[in-house]
Amino acid sequence: MALSTEIQRKAFQHPGSFALYSIALCLAFLVLRAIYNIYLHPLSSFPGPKFAVASNIPYVVAQVRGKLPHWLSALHQTYASTIVRISPNELSFIDGEAWKDIYSYRSGHKPFEKDLLIYGKPPNGVHSLLTAPKEDHTRMRRVIDHAFSAKASREQEPIVTGYVDNLIQRLHGQISGPSQGQVDLVKWYNWMTFDIIGDLSFGQSFACLETQMYHPWVETIFGNLKGITFMGACNRFTILQHILPFLIPKRIKQMIQDHWAATTANVDRRLKHGTDRPDFMSPIMKHNHDEKASLRHEELMSNASLFIIAGSESVATNLSGTTYYLLQNPDIMRKLRKEVDSAFTSEDQITAQSVANLPYLQACLSETHRIYPVALTGQAMTVPVAGDTICNIWVPGGVSFSCYTLRDIL
Ligand code: HEM
Repeated sequence: MALSTEIQRKAFQHPGSFALYSIALCLAFLVLRAIYNIYLHPLSSFPGPKFAVASNIPYVVAQVRGKLPHWLSALHQTYASTIVRISPNELSFIDGEAWKDIYSYRSGHKPFEKDLLIYGKPPNGVHSLLTAPKEDHTRMRRVIDHAFSAKASREQEPIVTGYVDNLIQRLHGQISGPSQGQVDLVKWYNWMTFDIIGDLSFGQSFACLETQMYHPWVETIFGNLKGITFMGACNRFTILQHILPFLIPKRIKQMIQDHWAATTANVDRRLKHGTDRPDFMSPIMKHNHDEKASLRHEELMSNASLFIIAGSESVATNLSGTTYYLLQNPDIMRKLRKEVDSAFTSEDQITAQSVANLPYLQACLSETHRIYPVALTGQAMTVPVAGDTICNIWVPGGVSFSCYTLRDIL
């Protein structure tokens, strides 16, 4: 004790020694923490690599490099287990049973909530459906479901079909144009889906197909997604949470702000135009009057932003993946063409309902979801304080976990 006080006294007398003393103290803390995480943490009995369970660094490195699914896949393979501990306080599940336990109602169990360390909130600090606690989620869903009902989808179909026709016409134009049919389909799919979702959410398309470029506001979305990933990574380190605002690159911060300013302006403009348009907003505004089924103004903003992000790139990514795999597998492409050609004799027969009756087409789209999933984050959740079972295994309270669809792992 006396020796330690003497070291401290000397360290404070010399600034250089003080720095060394502080570094030594931090290192000692990190080492002790790593030892605790590996050997004493409530998750220490779960399989997982020591380097990953000691600190959040390996997970974050995989995440910001865009390699998370590959890294996780390798871990599940190495440990030949459907449950792996992937960071100090986090488990990864790839068991089909886990999906049921996590997402379906279980009598006598508290619901799992989203892990806000990973998801974060929109810039206005108000939850959208994506992160809302169970009660708020139910209240919001009761209103928003009207925008996605079968009736609403039927009414929205002419808007959607208009953009699909526009895409096809413009792609035909590319064949005879200077590019001679060599186009970046990923961009074209994105232009179409952003136009559709802009129209359905804000009553105005982004005119991407028309201008054949991303609207500046759409570009902010890509920056926004990177920003969310970056913030999620920093949130894992207590110390970084406090200096986070200074760490995010200025350009990304600006993109997040621009995106939000444009969202609020667009929603306000759309709200002025009443409830006659067959889009997402009309049914929401029509049904937003009940206390148990309501959306406050700020919640509407957060959800409109969610619609744009969730409903555009997701569909474009699935279409891009499906096209890629069809081109890689000519036999499957032939079989699919046969199904489509024999089902329709003219373009106007192609509707949402008739397309839903093509089993091989539906199978191709579903298979793309399986082998090329759009959402790779695993929907991180937390276990309620009292702890709970997942796949009949007891998981302590406060633990974060994700459920991944990783292809052909075990
Ligand atoms: C290929 C297409 C799509 C895929 C793969 C997809 C995937 C997903 C996934 C995985 C989630 C859960 C996210 C989470 O909880 O972390 C989700 C939620 C959501 N998606 Fe999609 N999505 C697609 C299309 C769309 C479209 C077109 C919209 C229209 C706006 C949309 C709106 C939403 C909304 C509002 C939620 C939150 C639902 C809730 O929590 O109650 N998605 N989607």
